Amino acid sequence: MSPAQATTKRIAILADVHGNLPALEAVLEDIEVQAPDEVLVGGDLVGRGPQGSAVIREIRRRGWVSIRGNHEEYLLSFRRQDVPPDWLHLDEWAAARWMAAELSEDDIEYLGTLAFSARCDSIPQLLLTHGSPVATSDGLGPWTRASKLDRLLAGIEESVLVCGHTHRPMVRELDHGLVVNVGSVGLPFNGDRRAQYAILTWVDGDCRVELRQVEYDLEATLSAYRTTGFFEAGGVTAELLRLELLHATPFLVPFQRWADAIGKPPETGRLEEFLDFYEPDEPLRDFFLRIESMFERPC
Ligand SMILES: [Fe+2]
Ligand SMILES: [Fe+2]
Repeated sequence: MSPAQATTKRIAILADVHGNLPALEAVLEDIEVQAPDEVLVGGDLVGRGPQGSAVIREIRRRGWVSIRGNHEEYLLSFRRQDVPPDWLHLDEWAAARWMAAELSEDDIEYLGTLAFSARCDSIPQLLLTHGSPVATSDGLGPWTRASKLDRLLAGIEESVLVCGHTHRPMVRELDHGLVVNVGSVGLPFNGDRRAQYAILTWVDGDCRVELRQVEYDLEATLSAYRTTGFFEAGGVTAELLRLELLHATPFLVPFQRWADAIGKPPETGRLEEFLDFYEPDEPLRDFFLRIESMFERPC
């Protein structure tokens, strides 16, 4: 064996499964074929999908380390009823209540143990966080300025920062190192419906990133929406999540922002009006500017 071969390590990192079991199963099969040295999970196992408990089970039985995402935090808060009182009855939070109730006591205990970040046994230069090293909801995406990414890298000891949360895969080389967003297994927002994750190969201090896309049975996921009762119980949010799966682009947050802009609650009855207004192919930043200018409220 040559010295170069002796120091090669391959790490698979997946994130944002979001209770989409068929998507996870397809990625698990792909990982088995790829046979990496180590697998890490970047949080958001649960939330935004109906099979959170089954997803937790699959990850735990493999003994893979996962960190926590903002959706673990949300669902733990719902289970503790540690949320604003309105969230316990409003239509827009019905899906979150259902997803929190779907988890077992054991799942909840497990989610409570997840750390904010993880390091990697095989590659000490790698740090995994869900959002950024600052917060689980601080998303790093293709739109994030290089100066911010470089500042984040300068603030950590590691030279490779791996994250998820934005559901958009990304590889960015900066002065202080590399930032990798592995994309989303269960709910991609980059226009590609396939389940997505990344394999990092470390060869003598050099990190190569392979962003992988895996076909899966989307019909099986949509069927789980119905058979689990999620679609019926989840109200307007479940329908918006179904649209996100089909289009691989955000619908839920744009709907919430649009409803806020027109000063109305984000309820089922408003969905048709929103869908007439919203163009899924429009960049989100342009959409937000459009609603700001169209619905500017008088001072
Ligand atoms: Fe996510
Ligand atoms: Fe997230």
